[in-house]
Amino acid sequence: MSSLKWWQTAVFYQIYPRSFADGNGDGIGDFKGITEKLDYLASLGIDALWLSPHFPSPNWDCGYDISDYSNVASEYGTMDDFKLFLDESHKRNLRLILDLVLNHTSDEHPWFVESKSSRDNPKADWYVWMDSPPNNWQSCFDGEAWTYSPERNQYYYHYFMKQQPDLNWHNPEVKKAMWDAVRFWLDLGVDGYRLDAIGTIYEDPNLTPHNVPMNLAQLRSFSDTAKTPKEIKLKEKYWHEMFKNQWGQAGVHDLMKELRAVVDEYDGDRVLVGEDDNIDYMGNGQDELQLVFNFPLMRTEKITPTHIRKNQKERLTQIDNLASGAGWACNTLGNHDCSRIHTRFGNKLHDAQLARLNAALVLTMKGTPFLYNGEEIGMTDYMLTDISQVKDTMGSWYYHAIVIDMGVHPEEAMLRTAEMTRDKNRTPMQWSNNPNAGFSPADVSPWLPINPNYKDGVNVHDQENNPSSLLHYYKHLLRVRKESPSLKEGEYIPLQTTSKDYFAFLRQSDKQTVLVILNYSEKVFELDFSRTKEMKNANLKTLFSSAQRRPDQFEPKFKLSPFEVFIAEVVRG
Ligand code: NOJ
Repeated sequence: MSSLKWWQTAVFYQIYPRSFADGNGDGIGDFKGITEKLDYLASLGIDALWLSPHFPSPNWDCGYDISDYSNVASEYGTMDDFKLFLDESHKRNLRLILDLVLNHTSDEHPWFVESKSSRDNPKADWYVWMDSPPNNWQSCFDGEAWTYSPERNQYYYHYFMKQQPDLNWHNPEVKKAMWDAVRFWLDLGVDGYRLDAIGTIYEDPNLTPHNVPMNLAQLRSFSDTAKTPKEIKLKEKYWHEMFKNQWGQAGVHDLMKELRAVVDEYDGDRVLVGEDDNIDYMGNGQDELQLVFNFPLMRTEKITPTHIRKNQKERLTQIDNLASGAGWACNTLGNHDCSRIHTRFGNKLHDAQLARLNAALVLTMKGTPFLYNGEEIGMTDYMLTDISQVKDTMGSWYYHAIVIDMGVHPEEAMLRTAEMTRDKNRTPMQWSNNPNAGFSPADVSPWLPINPNYKDGVNVHDQENNPSSLLHYYKHLLRVRKESPSLKEGEYIPLQTTSKDYFAFLRQSDKQTVLVILNYSEKVFELDFSRTKEMKNANLKTLFSSAQRRPDQFEPKFKLSPFEVFIAEVVRG
């Protein structure tokens, strides 16, 4: 094909290792399990894997609190298990990127243990220490951002939980140690990194306090109960005001340039994907990150044609404006931090149709798509009912804060916690209709409860045997994308942009023009594109349609079915 890099044409699939496949039957996902599922992943038609953290961790934040950057968590297996997984992935032409957490370590990491041991040890300055809390900053997970350490009689800063102290990135030794860890995995052959929370790496050097008249628990509680437009606006303003001095600060660009230089020492176009939506982190398009996520696409109550068009216009203009012209888009609608696509963007009446439309959206838009494990079988959020089930510490902290400090009734607190905790979208992958959804043996309790809807067809095995399942639908779409040069590299040209019901656009390259129409409504439309410049005197050849469309060519005038996903090649002459 063209000169595009592998990560530009690839479809990525996020594996949340704790919940993906339990190979040794202890209730927790592991490398043995993932490796056994590689054939499944290859058959799905994805090209690359993003593995959420697999490093040793006390798991206060489900692996995002790392206590050793150059090792494998024992519950996931051994280094040899990892190497086998990497090797077997590569054999199947599946690339692998790892999660790189730069902002903080675990408080059990030897660097922090040493740093907190005295004020004058060699790592004394590796974290952010103060004699007393210099301001009212909050941690976005668990209250005050400054936590007392008796050993030093000082306070350390943490943007996330108190078990996740922030590294002091102004210290060159920190950089060196972290770049060593980065090289460790690149030397083993991994294909790049997804960079965690890069916006939080530096803080306002003036330590300017926030001016929100609430603490974190009060703000979360206020947000949960905000109903009127005024309250909703205020809630958004408060979230921004509370944390604006703790992220997005100067210094990240230089750091990303340094990291890019490290990664570019390696062959194979290793990639860096930033967990941030700020296009600026792509630098000039060639000197910082290759990709940042288009989070604004999913930051909405409802996916509508109007929202998508606005998003695409803003996003693609910004990318096109990058100095080198080498920017590239990156789209997703879900990950381990947010409600599952099927639940979040459903409307309770047409969830199945909307899930299909949204899958088609991510797989046909301009840019590299990221999928989250389980979305291909329509996994939904699962609401926990008892606080003892909650594993996401951010959720249990919130529950106790509102019950104990704010007097919220435990039942109400549990409902709110079930809604806000990320456990709901991290439940184990549903492989079959067997007990425990085939994730773990029947007599084992998985680390998080299994969503009982695995018994109702929301599982891989049943869907593999059902040609009209969502799983087959994903496979089909992925195949269409793979076979279509324009869906991978074509320009985006919106069409009939006044429709509030359907989203129509072309993907056009010098090799092919493809028409995509996503009908987000239950209405039928008589569509006519015969006067559209790119389709004048041309026919359409169906590449994919969720309605029963005849395969032969026809004029670009046709009836669009309710909730139809229609993809066609424009054929001239
Ligand atoms: C973003 C990760 O996606 C999330 O799961 C984690 O809790 C925070 N960063 C802190 O590392």
